[in-house]
Amino acid sequence: EKVNVAIVGATGAVGTKILEKLLERNFPVQSIKLLASKRSAGTEITAGGHTYVVEETVPESFEGISIAFFSAGGTISEKFAHEAVTRGAIVIDNTSAFRMKEQIPLVVPEVNADALNGKAGIIANPNCSTIQMVTALQPIREKFGLKRIVVSTYQAVSGAGSEAIDELESQSLQFQERATIQAAILPSASAEHHYPIAFNVIPQIDSFDSSGYTLEELKMMNETKKIFGDNELSVVATCVRLPVVTGHSESVYIEIGKEGVSVEDIQALLAVAPGVVIQDDPSKQLYPMPLFAEGKDEVFVGRIRKDPDHPAGFHLWIVSDNLLKGAALNSVQIAERLVNFIQ
Ligand code: A2P
Repeated sequence: EKVNVAIVGATGAVGTKILEKLLERNFPVQSIKLLASKRSAGTEITAGGHTYVVEETVPESFEGISIAFFSAGGTISEKFAHEAVTRGAIVIDNTSAFRMKEQIPLVVPEVNADALNGKAGIIANPNCSTIQMVTALQPIREKFGLKRIVVSTYQAVSGAGSEAIDELESQSLQFQERATIQAAILPSASAEHHYPIAFNVIPQIDSFDSSGYTLEELKMMNETKKIFGDNELSVVATCVRLPVVTGHSESVYIEIGKEGVSVEDIQALLAVAPGVVIQDDPSKQLYPMPLFAEGKDEVFVGRIRKDPDHPAGFHLWIVSDNLLKGAALNSVQIAERLVNFIQ
C-alpha cells in the first residue's frame, strides 16, 4: 500500500534532498505534498518528471497525511508537529526540538532501528554529526564495547541551511574582489556577532550553553548516549565550521572495551558494516574527504590508527554527506522502516 507524504521545509537544503531520496529509493508514495513558508507558496519544484507546487504550512496541511518529514527549524516543528500527529500522521523530525524527550525515539536505523517498534507520533532524526559518527562506531561498539569518545568536527556550511551556502559563495567573491566581507548568517543567525566563513574556521556552531560548550557539541554528547542507550559512555565534542559546502568530517578518538585489538580487526568490522565504506590506505594517499563524499549515501572511514599510548585507544577520520546520511537519507530510511507498521 502507498502512503501520503508531506515535507515541511521542502524548499530548504535538507527538504529538497528528502524529495530526491523518496523518488530515488522508490518510496511507496501515493502523493507528496511540499510545504514551506508563505513566501514560497506557489513555487514550482520539478523532480522525477513531476512538477509539485509548494504550499504554505498550516495545521490543515496534514489532513490525510501518513508520514510528515519536518526540516524547517525547531520553531516550526514545535508549532506544527503535534498538529500533524493529531491528524494521524507520523512525524519524522530533523530538528533538535524533540530529540532528547524521553518518550521520543531518536533513531539511526543501522544502530537502533528497534527503537521504532510500535512507535507512532514523533520520531526524531539525530544531529548530522552524531549520525555519521554512531553509524561508523556501532560495529566497533557491538564487538568490543565503547568507553570513551573524544571528537572534533569539521562541518560544512550547508548544515546551517541554504542561506549559509549563499554566504560562503558571496564571501568568496568578495574576497577575490578585495571587497569588504559581509557576514550576517554564521556562526548562527541568532548570534550577536557574525564572522566570515570564507578563508576562515569558526569554532562555534549554534549558541553557547552556560557550561562553555555549544549546543551543537551538547547535541553530539547527549544524542550519542541516547542512541547507544549508554549513559556511562564518556563523550565530548568540539564542533567547528569550515568553508566546505557539503560533507562533514570528524576526527574521532575512541577507547574501546578491550585491549589487544588491532587496526586490522577494526577494519575487518567496518568492511562489512551496513552503510559504511573504508577508504584507508596511506601508501596510496587514500582517505575520505568531503568533496568526494558529497552526493554519496555512505559514511566513509579512514586514517584508522592505534593510539601510541592507550592500549584500547584508536583514532579514526569519519566523513559523510551531512544532507544525506546526516539528514535526508536517514529520515527516509526511518520512513522505510515505518511503512511496515502503517500498512
Ligand atoms: P521558505 O523557503 O519558504 O523560507 P534551510 O534549512 O535551507 O534554511 O531551509 C529552511 C526551510 O524551512 C525552507 O524550506 C523554508 O521555507 C522553511 N521555513 C522557514 N520558515 C517557515 C515557516 N514559517 N513555515 C514553514 N516553513 C518554513
